[in-house]
Amino acid sequence: MVNVAVVGCGYWGPNLIRNFVSCPDTDLVWACDLDERRLEKVLSPYPVVRRTTDVKEVLSDDNVEAVAVATPVHTHFLIARACLESGKHVLVEKPLTASVAEGKELVSLSKEKDLQIMCDHTFCYTGAVRKIKEVIKTGILGEILYFDSVRINLGLFQQDVNVVWDLAPHDLSIVDFVVDKRPSHVSAHGVSHSGNNLENIAYISLGYNNSFIAHFHVNWLSPVKIRKTIVCGSEKMLVWDDLEPAEKVKIFDKGIEVKQGDREKKEQLLVSYRSGDMYAPRVSDREALSLVVKEFAQCVLENRLALTDGEAGLRVVRVLEAAQKSIKAGGATVPIDYS
Ligand SMILES: NC(=O)c1ccc[n+]([C@@H]2O[C@H](COP(=O)([O-])OP(=O)(O)OC[C@H]3O[C@@H](n4cnc5c(N)ncnc54)[C@H](O)[C@@H]3O)[C@@H](O)[C@H]2O)c1
Repeated sequence: MVNVAVVGCGYWGPNLIRNFVSCPDTDLVWACDLDERRLEKVLSPYPVVRRTTDVKEVLSDDNVEAVAVATPVHTHFLIARACLESGKHVLVEKPLTASVAEGKELVSLSKEKDLQIMCDHTFCYTGAVRKIKEVIKTGILGEILYFDSVRINLGLFQQDVNVVWDLAPHDLSIVDFVVDKRPSHVSAHGVSHSGNNLENIAYISLGYNNSFIAHFHVNWLSPVKIRKTIVCGSEKMLVWDDLEPAEKVKIFDKGIEVKQGDREKKEQLLVSYRSGDMYAPRVSDREALSLVVKEFAQCVLENRLALTDGEAGLRVVRVLEAAQKSIKAGGATVPIDYS
């Protein structure tokens, strides 16, 4: 059993609390939030869990081995660093930090202290994303040509981060998880319609050192909710619709074959189309967060890196920071710095 604490009991923290309580590998011993009333309300079903408004009280308890941080993004770094400095393993909500410099410091501190740092890239633990990774690995899609996702809704306008830092971590962590490629550059456009300079709509394109391309549309100002992803391969194409109650993932035997035509004549390219069967593989409906907390407990118990470790969190932050620069530079191409 790993003794854990949750810091931040707002919208997301209670989901972590519920999963830590039901996970057989963890014992929730503390919960912390600046807001005392919030703390009391969230912890009412769990009277034995100790509570505090001061994170220092959690960190000075030697009984606590690991901490989950579910506070606003700009506070992740200081809280996670204090956890590591106090000898606690740490699970940090997405995005790992508000900057690359902060992310690098956390990852190197975790190595120095021989402690685990994991980022809650929840979607990587969903049945659909695990299935997509498995399908890509079998090679049945052929060479992966592009990844295209839409995540739009009449969403909550966040006060502290724009839509890129709020929603794109989901899709960036998914593409990082399922495709064995690292982007080299970003170009992004975004606009704020609320007058506070925080973009509520953005289009992000990732370039790679080959012909693979990834594109993400994130938006809080849409009349309809859409959560759709296409992974196009040279042999087959996959569509994931997260709003489908069943058959979330569909694999289409569709594609093209290109032959070079007679250059003397008009048609230089001969494109023939293939449209075959569609099938929908079975996808687990187990709550992703239950697997996140299990992975966190196991990486602590086995002293191994998590599936979505600090480096994975940092890779996402590298793209977010470059995308932010690109938006502010009117969509200019910004290289991703891996130094
Ligand atoms: N993995 C996911 O799918 C997912 C979903 C939603 C949110 N999140 C992430 O979870 C984090 C929190 O988001 P939220 O929507 O729950 O925010 P929220 O504003 O609803 O809750 C944050 C809570 O943290 C508390 N807090 C702030 N500073 C604190 C401190 N120093 N010590 C103790 N408590 C403190 C606040 O009082 C508040 O109750 C963010 O990083 C967000 O990106 C992840």
